[in-house]
Amino acid sequence: MFYSEEIVEEVRSRSDIVDVVSRYVKLQRRGSSYLGLCPFHNEKTPSFSVSPDKQIYHCFGCGAGGNVITFLMEYENYSFQEALGILAQRAGISLPKEEMSKEARAQADLRASLLEINKLAANYFYYQLKQPQGKQGLDYLTKRKLSKETIRRFGLGFANKTSDDLYRYLKSKNYSDEILKQTGLVTIEEQKTHDKFWNRVMFPILDVNNRVIGFGGRVMGDGLPKYLNSPETKLFDKSRNLYGLNYAKTSREKCMLICEGYMDVIAMHQAGFVNAVASLGTAFTPQHASLLKRYTDQAVLTYDSDGAGIKAALRAIPILKEAGISCKVLTMAPYKDPDEFIKNCGQEAFKDRIDSAKNSFLFEIDVMKREFNLEDPEQKTRFYNSVARKLLEFPEALERDNYIQAVSREHFIHYQDLKQLVQRISSQMVPGMTVRTSEVSVREKRKSKDDGVKQSQRLLLTWLIENPKLFEKIEGVITPEDFREDLYHQVAQMVFEEHQAGDVNPARILNRFINDEAQYKEAAALFNASLKESLNNEEQKKAFLETVIKVKKNSLDEASRAAADISQLQKIIQAQSALKNLHISLD
Ligand code: CTP
Ligand code: MN
Repeated sequence: MFYSEEIVEEVRSRSDIVDVVSRYVKLQRRGSSYLGLCPFHNEKTPSFSVSPDKQIYHCFGCGAGGNVITFLMEYENYSFQEALGILAQRAGISLPKEEMSKEARAQADLRASLLEINKLAANYFYYQLKQPQGKQGLDYLTKRKLSKETIRRFGLGFANKTSDDLYRYLKSKNYSDEILKQTGLVTIEEQKTHDKFWNRVMFPILDVNNRVIGFGGRVMGDGLPKYLNSPETKLFDKSRNLYGLNYAKTSREKCMLICEGYMDVIAMHQAGFVNAVASLGTAFTPQHASLLKRYTDQAVLTYDSDGAGIKAALRAIPILKEAGISCKVLTMAPYKDPDEFIKNCGQEAFKDRIDSAKNSFLFEIDVMKREFNLEDPEQKTRFYNSVARKLLEFPEALERDNYIQAVSREHFIHYQDLKQLVQRISSQMVPGMTVRTSEVSVREKRKSKDDGVKQSQRLLLTWLIENPKLFEKIEGVITPEDFREDLYHQVAQMVFEEHQAGDVNPARILNRFINDEAQYKEAAALFNASLKESLNNEEQKKAFLETVIKVKKNSLDEASRAAADISQLQKIIQAQSALKNLHISLD
């Protein structure tokens, strides 16, 4: 952290969260908190809640949550320093400049300059397109049926034939070679300097907050490489950005369309499908998925209809599923991609394709089927076996049965036969377990035990935060040391300390984790127990004792393994047996 905790805390405590959030989100008072439509995902009924007491926000729909600083970071895509700066300014606090380490300040300045230069470059390319020397580019885009409005909306431009045109322009703005090198827009060598993009139509790449982070450039014909992209820079990380998301995120459609290329996104948007995004020149990554998950939990893959597109879809499906996004697959055949499809068949036909997009599992089966020659009885049997094995991916009997029905219908396999085959394979799998699967199951068992203990620590901590009276109940039994998970331990230390001082302040505690996104999210979740986890019914009251015992037992077990001498061990054993007689009544 570059600012002292004190100053960060001062800025935070003098910025009211309701005040700040309501400048972006329409909030309505509901009891002790405020409710509105979540700005981080698409919804029609409000599940975004802001608590003036706790000074935190939480969305019950998408799980976003944090304090006033993270709100700005997430909403405006600000860095921590930027968010803090804005809030400090509003609160009339002057941030001590020296407090930022030299290196940190340099990094922040660098990022800001790179953004500035990119913006200048984008404007320059856009301007060139409208000049006589840009005619070839404009003709090309027009030939590809892009309207003036679309060109403007996506800021498309043209990079000149002159090879150091942009470099000279940027030099005229007084940027040093040192920084220009880092934009990836120019190559500077001892003898010669030249622009990376040259005689191409230009696609600026914007992040979700409309800041230019990179470029793609296309040759106007058949030259190679067809597309040239900015290299990864301090600003541009391909695996974390989706082209078109800056517009798609506000589309308020219930699903997102994921395609392969610049032109596909643009063609779809032009045809009214403003929920289209693309992962650019790279495969779809888990980071893409989690970015998308902020806005939707449904996707339609509209990849190219060639082999590469099918492969890319097969790879993206499990990544999306893992992130909790259900997906369907669209085929563009007989055309190559959405751009060509729309050009040839129009937007109505494209809409029909979306409406009849294929469930991703059924799509996977279709692709699998192509590997078998179904004229051959042996191969046909192998195909059925593969289908049955794949159906075992669904652990839930009911869901699996739905898919057995669907597959049997679509591939003309007798439902009962397929069901029996699935059952037989599933029953064969247990006794005949291979070494690999048994290893997996041991690992899974251990993992689920670990998860159980971790879960108990999380629940206990959540309950304590929610209901400070519980501290009395666990006095003498549970201490912060019993929270063995590192993050929970850190939070517990602060919560216990603040409880003793009589002032538990969630937003202040969260501040400590602000520099680590993953930790931050997990910590924030502790302060936002869902109703399901709240200690508000009989069953859960019973669970309280059980949870306390589980947390303590795990802590004692770990301590006993680490015990240094016999007397220590004896103490632990005593505590272990005392635990058996522990009674806590919540009434
Ligand atoms: N791509 C790339 N580098 C290449 C080729 C492709 O980065 N040499 C990326 C681009 O983002 C491109 C996407 O992959 O938009 C899809 O490539 P492709 O299907 O070959 O191009 P199209 O999108 O169909 O481009 P166009 O319609 O302009 O021919
Ligand atoms: Mn294309």
